[in-house]
Amino acid sequence: MSRVALVTGGTRGIGAAISVALAAAGFRVAASFAGNEEKAKAFGEETGIPVFKWDVSNYQECADGVARIEVEIGPVEVLVNNAGITRDGMFHKMTPEQWNEVIGTNLTGLFNMTHQVWGGMRDRGFGRIINISSINGQKGQMGQVNYSAAKAGDLGFTKALAQEGAAKNITVNAICPGYIGTDMVKAVPEKVLNERIIPQIPVGRLGEPEEIARCVVFLASDDAGFITGSTLTVNGGQYFA
Ligand code: CAA
Repeated sequence: MSRVALVTGGTRGIGAAISVALAAAGFRVAASFAGNEEKAKAFGEETGIPVFKWDVSNYQECADGVARIEVEIGPVEVLVNNAGITRDGMFHKMTPEQWNEVIGTNLTGLFNMTHQVWGGMRDRGFGRIINISSINGQKGQMGQVNYSAAKAGDLGFTKALAQEGAAKNITVNAICPGYIGTDMVKAVPEKVLNERIIPQIPVGRLGEPEEIARCVVFLASDDAGFITGSTLTVNGGQYFA
């Protein structure tokens, strides 16, 4: 029987590419989404991948959502913590709401989600946790104190939990995408994107969501069992961690 993979934020952007790539690699995939019902529905219809709505910043919603997936599809063996948001702004203008929303989704979301699947993975003696962090958690980014802090936190989470999972055959890894051509990056003011960001990328282009998805498929595979606690940097040469 093929393994079950759950991708949070798995119906749009990088997450959609991850869901599709895992399904193509033979996983039974479930994708969660928080907000954009119309896009999620279209994604589900187009790909045949079941979609589930909940907010990863809410612990109880995560518990209920994972319980539903385990009944309808099966125990989650691969969890991809991909759901993420931006609320960019210079620090002197950043509101507590901008801080809390980003920390809640991008950092606390990893606790809320991983906690639901961890016990089962320990019991079964197999698991893959793949956390989508960011180049900006590695290098910091002006206008993103909240996001950089959360994404750097994701790396600490990964390294600590990897040590706990190792004896139970559960790997925990992070991927740090650079600037990928998704709605999130397209929300950056065009002038900033074209004049400030793209010129900093040595390969001279944004990344493709599929370039991240292929890394996830590798880390999710049984073959990647000796890789844990690692950070895979995928950014077109923009920053060497
Ligand atoms: N890199 C370099 N310079 C940047 C920059 C960036 N990412 N973002 C802003 N700047 C510069 C601007 O060019 C501008 O410089 P000048 O005054 O010399 O032109 C200065 O910072 C101030 O910027 P704004 O005039 O835009 O100021 P603002 O207060 O109107 O807006 C902002 C500030 C909301 C931070 C806006 O600039 C912005 O959205 N910047 C992009 C921030 C960013 O990089 N976000 C990443 C989103 S993608 C993502 O998060 C995915 C991922 O993991 C990589």
